[in-house]
Amino acid sequence: MKILVTGGLGYIGSHVVVELLNENFEVVILDNLSNSSENVLDGITAITHKKPEFIKLDLREKSAVQDFFKKYSDVSGVIHFAASKAVGESVELPLLYYENNLNTLIYLLSQLKDKNNAQFIFSSSCTVYGQADELPITESAPTKPAESPYGNTKQIGEEIIKDICKVTPNLNAIALRYFNPIGAHESAEIGELPLGVPQNLVPYITQTAIGMREELSVFGDDYPTEDGTCIRDYIHVVDLAKAHVAALKRLVNAKNKDNFEVFNIGTGKGSSVLEVITAFEKVSNTKLNYKIVDRREGDITAAYADTHKANTELGWKSIYSLEKALLSSWKWEQKIRS
Ligand code: NAD
Ligand code: UFG
Repeated sequence: MKILVTGGLGYIGSHVVVELLNENFEVVILDNLSNSSENVLDGITAITHKKPEFIKLDLREKSAVQDFFKKYSDVSGVIHFAASKAVGESVELPLLYYENNLNTLIYLLSQLKDKNNAQFIFSSSCTVYGQADELPITESAPTKPAESPYGNTKQIGEEIIKDICKVTPNLNAIALRYFNPIGAHESAEIGELPLGVPQNLVPYITQTAIGMREELSVFGDDYPTEDGTCIRDYIHVVDLAKAHVAALKRLVNAKNKDNFEVFNIGTGKGSSVLEVITAFEKVSNTKLNYKIVDRREGDITAAYADTHKANTELGWKSIYSLEKALLSSWKWEQKIRS
């Protein structure tokens, strides 16, 4: 079966491509390389000994998307990663985010809605929950007003898919709400390549440990948590990738209960910023230079997933520990700087 992976050379997409190839799916990747490089294909090939088809294409070009589906009429399954993802940048450049994250989605769905049978998997985020009233967070927790245009594109994206699914029984979709993806493939052939100064905790930690950054700023230690720092659910990107394969199989095998479903993808375990630092120091055998600074605007206190629905319905469970994920990030950082 041929699966289209948009944004398949990016951080999460490349790990999903590996898992799809391992499961003998045929893969075609569309990516405009705005936040990735064609070299990622070599990493995927080194791991799987298979080279997926890659087409450089900007999904904001509606006619290019139409032409792709004309030529690749045998593609019915799509995993859609392509999007812009920097929360701060989205505040500065909202139109870019609404265009890149929503137009691309609409162009893809316009092509899929007329197929006899189509499967669609969407990269959503736990950001849709904001600060949830109850922890762990279940899929039925209410969504909260988005903190940023980026977060809004995920909420609106889910609504667009839901509305289209209502009137398109042949389209089956799943939105996966990721918690905090970290780590890299254990081979260190693929991993995260943040452009410029990392905004996320783990790449900032590894770049500090390797000497690229002087020190890590811990954003606030006065939150109402045990050690005062924020709590998140950090999930190994390989576990996250396997969840996509499970979701795809659910749709392909018509095991879904509704033609639009939502799943939390996390470990179910919350870790504070200081716990992440301690775990990183242990697995890397380094001492991390860090200081406590003021809170970062827009950060919530705590978020971690209730994974019951994904465990039972998708038959998927995360297996990697925080330590294992951090070690893989560290191995990746060392490899790319060597
Ligand atoms: P990434 O930037 O590494 O990957 C996205 C890929 O899409 C890149 O290769 C980029 O070049 C490509 N792309 C962007 N716009 C495109 C366009 N118009 N046409 C073609 N290709 C385009 O990001 P990622 O971390 O792998 O995230 C993948 C998805 O998961 C995104 O939708 C993101 O919003 C979502 N997500 C990510 C996180 C996270 O923490 N990384 C958390 C929740 C959700
Ligand atoms: N943090 C620091 N110092 C840093 C970076 C982060 O202390 O230099 C702290 C943050 O304050 C937060 C925690 O580390 O408490 C995690 O921060 P990240 O930026 O790594 O992750 P977020 O939970 O803020 O957000 C990430 C993505 C969002 C996505 C969300 C849920 O950036 O796009 O996960 O998937 F929506």
